[in-house]
Amino acid sequence: MGKIKAAITGIEGYVPDYILTNKELETMVDTNDEWIVSRTGIKERRILKGKDKGTSVIGAKAVEGLLKKTNIDAKEIDLIICATATPDMIFPSTACIIADKVGATNAFAYDLMAACSGFLYALSTGSKFIETGAYKRVVVVGADKMSSIINYEDRATCIIFGDGGGAVMLEPCTNGLGVQDSILKSDGSGSEFLHMKAGGSAKPASYATIDSKEHFVWQDGQTVFKAAVTSMADVSEEIMKNNNLCSNDIAWLVPHQANQRIIDATARRMGVGNEKVMVNIEKYGNTTSGTIPLCLWEWEDQLKKGDNLILAAFGGGFTWGSIYLKWAYDSNK
Ligand code: UT7
Repeated sequence: MGKIKAAITGIEGYVPDYILTNKELETMVDTNDEWIVSRTGIKERRILKGKDKGTSVIGAKAVEGLLKKTNIDAKEIDLIICATATPDMIFPSTACIIADKVGATNAFAYDLMAACSGFLYALSTGSKFIETGAYKRVVVVGADKMSSIINYEDRATCIIFGDGGGAVMLEPCTNGLGVQDSILKSDGSGSEFLHMKAGGSAKPASYATIDSKEHFVWQDGQTVFKAAVTSMADVSEEIMKNNNLCSNDIAWLVPHQANQRIIDATARRMGVGNEKVMVNIEKYGNTTSGTIPLCLWEWEDQLKKGDNLILAAFGGGFTWGSIYLKWAYDSNK
């Protein structure tokens, strides 16, 4: 029997109904559709509306759909890991809330925060629980309600982000498919360039933090852009080298959707043509932990058993990384 690897055996995504277009943003801040499309590739993004609705709404919808698709009972889930930068509350974890909503009463559940690299960190972590033989069914969620931390008066950030997410089922396989390798990195000195300053233990919420708009995402766009281009391309090249992969071996690049120009630079460095790159940034913008599962969900019916996928991301922290996996099933959609 081959070594136990963690295979993705199902994927489901969820985006809220409300569409925030570039046209509508033009009425909110000094921007225009042409600038947004040419600088980022984004045309619209989804927004979760409704009182008291947090990221768990997105996560639970994705997990419910996933269970239906894979025909797995919620009680059979061993573990739920939710990657998110916008938890419903600081505690309890959003993963616990999702587990309760879907009826996963036998699962332990926790959140993992690595901003835009969150899904990769969680997928890698979840895989280890499968590879050791400890657990049989691990659900990895990547979801964010970015609209809850965006200042819709700041044109440098409000045009980029949206709400959405997805969930994958991880199960053991011994036929060589599944997660093959991962490289995860971080550099905390990047925190000054991309952060939400207040609301944590260092700077709890106060009238002053609200007045100074410190409960919103702040970024030095150009510095983040430069670091993202270099790091995402470097780490993708590194994982290809480590696994003796050339561009022809790769069926799909699944990049974090932060900016079309960052995606293009990564694909170029890997020598991968546009036809092999999953891009849906024009519809959803940057959903932080949600981008990669949303891509896998939308491309599921084109994925074939044995396809080599490279997942790559960069985000706040700084955090970045890439995962090499062999897709484990043919879609029967
Ligand atoms: O997921 C990981 C986290 N985030 C990222 O990866 C984002 C990385 N950064 C970026 O994607 C880009 O830096 C942005 C899209 C945020 C900005 O694009 P840029 O090409 O770096 O623009 P910039 O900040 O250098 O600004 C260029 C010009 C400036 O005007 P001046 O000084 O040249 O007159 C800005 O004031 O564009 C102006 N500008 C805008 N104009 C219209 C900035 N934002 C906007 C806007 N609409 N929304």
